[in-house]
Amino acid sequence: MLHTLNQRVYTLIMKVLVIGSGGREHALAWRLAQSEKVEKVYAAPGNGGTAGEKGCENVDLLDRDPAEEEIQEALIRYAIREGIDLTVVGPEAPLAAGMADRFRAAGLAIVGPGAEASRLEASKAYAKSFMKKYGIRTARSLTCADLAGALAAARSHFGAKTVVPPLVIKADGLAGGKGVVIAEDQNTAETTVNDFMKEGILDGAGKTLVLEEFLRGPEVSVMAAVSVSGGRGMILPFVSARDHKQRFDGDKGPNTGGMGAIAPVPDFTAELQADFETAILNPTLGGLSTEGFDYRGFIFFGLLIQDGKCFLLEYNVRLGDPETQALLPLMDSDFAELCIAIENETLPEFRLSWKPGAVCAPVAVASGYPGTYRKGSPIALNKISFAKTGAILFAAGALRSPGGPAGSGLRSAGGRVLTVAAYGAGGADARQRAYRALEAVNFEGMEYRRDIGAKTENPLPGSP
Ligand code: AMP
Ligand code: GLY
Repeated sequence: MLHTLNQRVYTLIMKVLVIGSGGREHALAWRLAQSEKVEKVYAAPGNGGTAGEKGCENVDLLDRDPAEEEIQEALIRYAIREGIDLTVVGPEAPLAAGMADRFRAAGLAIVGPGAEASRLEASKAYAKSFMKKYGIRTARSLTCADLAGALAAARSHFGAKTVVPPLVIKADGLAGGKGVVIAEDQNTAETTVNDFMKEGILDGAGKTLVLEEFLRGPEVSVMAAVSVSGGRGMILPFVSARDHKQRFDGDKGPNTGGMGAIAPVPDFTAELQADFETAILNPTLGGLSTEGFDYRGFIFFGLLIQDGKCFLLEYNVRLGDPETQALLPLMDSDFAELCIAIENETLPEFRLSWKPGAVCAPVAVASGYPGTYRKGSPIALNKISFAKTGAILFAAGALRSPGGPAGSGLRSAGGRVLTVAAYGAGGADARQRAYRALEAVNFEGMEYRRDIGAKTENPLPGSP
């Protein structure tokens, strides 16, 4: 129904394409479908949640395992054929592979940065050099492109001193969450450097390493809308959120893709917010503008708070998962209109507003995750009990299972199976509702953390 010209959205009722298949994408599709501006949402490939969502439909274009470029070309043909007015990209991999550049070159409107700016996430070394160039507050670091140099730097970090803070070793390149190791001692540091650089265990990532000072403190995720082009623009931050990355309660166990999120973060005070804007957000905006990026999309600032100051640990060039599942139910403004404002560079006029309460969004995983786990379990849902909590169920690793006995119409198909997001008047209320909602869901081997949002701080593992 709508028409795009110069990648601007000039339409009243849109067809929107959401790229991705996780819980974040279900939340995006759910929220977009609610907008009066949206006629229909197509999710490519989507999951069982987007398949069953009102106003949404999944798009499955290629049934083989095609190269990323082939998928992108097929999506462009699809978007043109179906008259898609706007595309919103969930994950980083398609962005790093140039999806936004390709769509824009084809005259299609898309929310997401181009490949060049996506290096802020895809390359730790590039991100670090950007932070240094633009005076963005971050941990001190050294980038090494050769094995001998990295080993020497690791040895000199641990040196002869008796009490030495850990060394953070970050692999350059997309490493699927496996590219950061916090080495407590010289032996671990040397083994990690060898594994990454010599043995190449990260499948292409890790040829270059960033060796970084270890910081201690709680972490906060700040996501924001970005509309920068032609050397000027704006970054509009959202309310703060917090992921819980460790698998088990009390931040114990292995790192995962995220075991649950809350928004807002009670300990991210107005002072910290102001410090973040001065030391990180504003110079980032300056950097994006000076580099001449066409950055119309979302950005994610991974912050660590130490001694009352915000440090930037990482950029992601997209929204967080599961932070998005906590954030979107809290957003009062129309999300589709926000996407249009990003694309059309009208963010300064956009009125972004939030509901007053809080959201707690724990993730239910399959037993064994992040190791091996079983798939294909029917997901039972007691709809009446669930509805009483007011919570929303976002599917992640879950496919549609029509006709099953289960009640949710879903069966598990991944490690992180679903997120339950509950809105409450405050953090405690949201938390209570979320956990009551989870009691109404069941599948074989279902497990979840019981402490999402239980304390206001989420210090790093190993901190006192
Ligand atoms: P990154 O992908 O760079 O955010 O790193 C992944 C995780 O490693 C972060 O969320 C932190 O928990 C931890 N981390 C990264 N850099 C540091 C650092 N300099 N000090 C302490 N922890 C860190
Ligand atoms: N929750 C962190 C991420 O999306 O990378």
